[in-house]
Amino acid sequence: MTRTRIIGTGCSVPDRVVTNAELSELMDTSDEWIRTRTGIQERRWIREGETGSELSCRAARAALDMAGVSPGELDAIVYATCTPDHFIPGNGVYLQRLLGVPGIPAIDIRMACSGFVYALSVADAYIRAGMYQRILVVGAEIQSTGLDISTEGRNTAVIFADGAGAVVLAPSDQADRGLLGFDLHSDGSSAEMLWVDTPGSMHHPRISHAQLDQGRQFVVMDGKEVFRHAVTLMPESVRAVLSGAGLTPADISLLLPHQANLRISEMVQRNLELRDDQVYNNIQRYGNTTAATIPIMLDETLRAGRIKAGDVVVITAFGAGFAWGSAAVRW
Ligand SMILES: CC(C)(COP(=O)(O)OP(=O)(O)OC[C@H]1O[C@@H](n2cnc3c(N)ncnc32)[C@H](O)[C@@H]1OP(=O)(O)O)[C@@H](O)C(=O)NCCC(=O)NCCS
Repeated sequence: MTRTRIIGTGCSVPDRVVTNAELSELMDTSDEWIRTRTGIQERRWIREGETGSELSCRAARAALDMAGVSPGELDAIVYATCTPDHFIPGNGVYLQRLLGVPGIPAIDIRMACSGFVYALSVADAYIRAGMYQRILVVGAEIQSTGLDISTEGRNTAVIFADGAGAVVLAPSDQADRGLLGFDLHSDGSSAEMLWVDTPGSMHHPRISHAQLDQGRQFVVMDGKEVFRHAVTLMPESVRAVLSGAGLTPADISLLLPHQANLRISEMVQRNLELRDDQVYNNIQRYGNTTAATIPIMLDETLRAGRIKAGDVVVITAFGAGFAWGSAAVRW
């Protein structure tokens, strides 16, 4: 069966840099606390008037340029985000409108931090089935407008941030190069450990003044539980996806772990017994941009020459749902 290749990557982050010092003026926290607990030094947040679909459009145009594919040659858009510009419709159609490609299918994937891995798996299945040839896959998130930027919300406000990444997929012309496989999981029994309660269709109305006063529109996280699950399930998933491809962690050229927290990445690295040069992290500069972390890392490492033809690149993610998973690529 045809394999899928990534033929272009792109990313875009807002130009507004928010430092730990700036957050320390807004809530009871400190640069030292944030650096030692999360690894984050600064992050990007949008200014009023900027949107996630615009950020993703810049990322998409960069990926299309690298791929040598024009927007009109795309067959489909798969857009991973849990923070769309609006509740309805999804952001795929807004990106489609900005790219000027009416008519092609544009679907949203709402799997939070694992969104890009899931979106990639959907697009890969389309290509392997012969249904589409050129697919734009996006991971983009605007978290800053949904954070409680006060001492009460400090365990999430210092972590989450905004950004977008995109890749262009096409059928591989070499049987041994391309996406080697996926390992995907979810478990709704922990759904409320990382969630946003409202707006939600179970509420009458979906959002009320009382709910807003209670802060139920903000992301809420049980950090310790998320941490505990992530450090076990991410390495387990990496091993599973590699074993499906007849490989082991020692074969990894580059691991791109979802940027949840630098301490999580370091524990995943230790568990898999990987050297520093086998793992890439950029949470120091961008914070946790949810579905965008992996495509941003793919773009940065590819453009920096860290990925070469034949390399085994593994991506892995864990987040809300809980949902987690990995993909392996022979570049
Ligand atoms: C959020 C996280 C950094 C908190 O670190 P932790 O060591 O678990 O800290 P705790 O939640 O136990 O809180 C310890 C103390 O620090 C405080 N604290 C929380 N956030 C703080 C902040 N930004 N600044 C200063 N103090 C903070 C807590 O209020 C608590 O104070 P208390 O002991 O007086 O109650 C950590 O749990 C984590 O990173 N979890 C994973 C989160 C993640 O990856 N999320 C993304 C998933 S995709």
